Amino acid sequence: MCGIIGVAGNTEAVSVLLDGLERLEYRGYDSAGVAVVSPDGNLQVKKCKGRLSVLREALSRQEPLSGTIGIGHTRWATHGEPSDVNAHPHVGQNGKIAVVHNGIIENYLEIKQSLIRKGISFVSDTDTEVIVQLLEYYYGKKSDLMDAVYAVLNRIKGAYAMGILCSDFPGQMIAAKKDAPLLIGYGTDGNYIASDVTALLAHTKTVTYMEDDEVAVMTPDQVQIFDRDGCLLEKEKQLIAWDISAAEKGGYAHFMLKEIMEQPEAVWKTISPRLANGEIVLEELAEDADFMRGISRIYLVACGSAYHVGVVGKYVLEKLLHIPAEACLASEFRYSEPVLGESSLVIVISQSGETLDSMAALREAKRKGSRVLSIVNVMGSSIARESDYVLYTWAGPEIAVATTKAYTTQMVLLLMLGLWMARQLNRIQEGEYRKLVGGLEQLPEKIKKVLGNLDLYQKAASRYFNHNSVFYIGRNLDYALGLEGSLKLKEISYIHSESYAAGELKHGTISLIEPGTLVVALASYEPLAEKMLSNIVEVTSRGAEVLAVATEKTEGLVNSQAAEVFVIPAVHPLLQPVLGVIPLQLFAYYIALNRGCDIDKPRNLAKSVTVE
Ligand code: AGP
Ligand code: GLU
Repeated sequence: MCGIIGVAGNTEAVSVLLDGLERLEYRGYDSAGVAVVSPDGNLQVKKCKGRLSVLREALSRQEPLSGTIGIGHTRWATHGEPSDVNAHPHVGQNGKIAVVHNGIIENYLEIKQSLIRKGISFVSDTDTEVIVQLLEYYYGKKSDLMDAVYAVLNRIKGAYAMGILCSDFPGQMIAAKKDAPLLIGYGTDGNYIASDVTALLAHTKTVTYMEDDEVAVMTPDQVQIFDRDGCLLEKEKQLIAWDISAAEKGGYAHFMLKEIMEQPEAVWKTISPRLANGEIVLEELAEDADFMRGISRIYLVACGSAYHVGVVGKYVLEKLLHIPAEACLASEFRYSEPVLGESSLVIVISQSGETLDSMAALREAKRKGSRVLSIVNVMGSSIARESDYVLYTWAGPEIAVATTKAYTTQMVLLLMLGLWMARQLNRIQEGEYRKLVGGLEQLPEKIKKVLGNLDLYQKAASRYFNHNSVFYIGRNLDYALGLEGSLKLKEISYIHSESYAAGELKHGTISLIEPGTLVVALASYEPLAEKMLSNIVEVTSRGAEVLAVATEKTEGLVNSQAAEVFVIPAVHPLLQPVLGVIPLQLFAYYIALNRGCDIDKPRNLAKSVTVE
């Protein structure tokens, strides 16, 4: 869960590395560092605790690092506190080899102790340092760098993406990968490695995704990729469709706001290629006649916001397909001995396609013989590659740690999948299908309308930003929506918040409601709006201040009880959460803005969670 960049190029490496790290900083930001090797084998390292700006500043105060081959890292600590010494790159005790690493080495203690017994001294608390110390040790014994690399890879257990420099080979960079993302970029002025394609877009759009157990050796003119036995591989290159501007702020104060505002387009890009003459066409699935044969149970497996999409999916798929569906947290699913088999469909939802818990759940599902379909935003990511079927959300790169456009596009795609399956299985009436497809087509325009009320959300935020505890309540799809609204608020504004099924509040949590408590009441799901009113009255009777989200059809019900109402256009109830989430995203955004929070990079978080 960090960002790695590496270059074997023809121009000075440091600025390429710093620019790349800038684009990767969302993946981890507690420390950063670079290592560069000069043509005469001078290995130079600079690393600092804190944001990338601290490293930039430190570099500007010293002699420039010189060399065209280099590696860089922005860290999200797993082992050892954020500090200068624990920051990457790590260098072996002989000063010959430098390593940047993303992931966790599970057997690091055992290796560390055995190296200490051999007289090697460690300087950091990280697991990563064992890689470089072991590598130098094997290199000393075997005198062949590649043999030493393979010996290390055979000895370490866990997850890694790594970049390696060695002062004896100043013209090359080595990369290795297992269970953490790493891709290779082929540029005209050199070759690159990166954790994420956004760091490469300024240099190239031609990439190869490294697979587990592969090792690459790169010079400015050549990339060689080997398998775990050292055999040279012929790998396909892919062309990335994303444009560099998609990974920039484009005049917005924050990536989060930019990405919220991009939702009409992102949703349209996800929907439109899959609609033809009023029919949903999922080419990704249509060719496989087996896709739906005998599905008796559906599991929607994901983490965080993607899990919240899974909760929406549970309600939607059960309604449309009459097949039992369950939303599962990936981190629980993998260890809960799920009852899976050939008749289960496991839908894995992930923006990054690299979330380790989701990946592990996917592997568990496949091991048990289930079909795995994934809904993923990043093309070629690990989850996409290992799934039997992939549906891509076309949201474009999402940089802000708090997801917004990926969430809405995942939801839309899941709805389309449900409708498509219902049609194939003859479980939906023509009229209902038409209504929903027509409604889907209109979503981008309706989202624009909701986005037109920025001042309303801004005003509400300045009224409520001082609250230190907020409750979100809703029923059915509004309950799923509340889970997301509450997570958005807590992750970027650090306000404690909880989300409850509105009917559940009275079974305990209502004891926390006191005069002035802010309750965000979601009353956009029309079939249960009246029931929701009763729950709203329950909290206002105890002094709660209610901020409601309602549609043009339900606002009349809640108006008298709520201090404030965000009114959104009424659409088919199954589509309503796509609109309902937008005021919640913006409310959280403006609250965090009022509180002076670091919105795109909230504390303790990272965009892509590639550790367990
Ligand atoms: C959402 O705002 C979060 N930052 C987080 O919950 C995220 O949705 C989760 O970590 C899953 O990530 P993924 O979609 O990349 O798998
Ligand atoms: N486990 C390593 C560390 O704690 C790497 C963490 C990361 O992926 O950023 O330094």
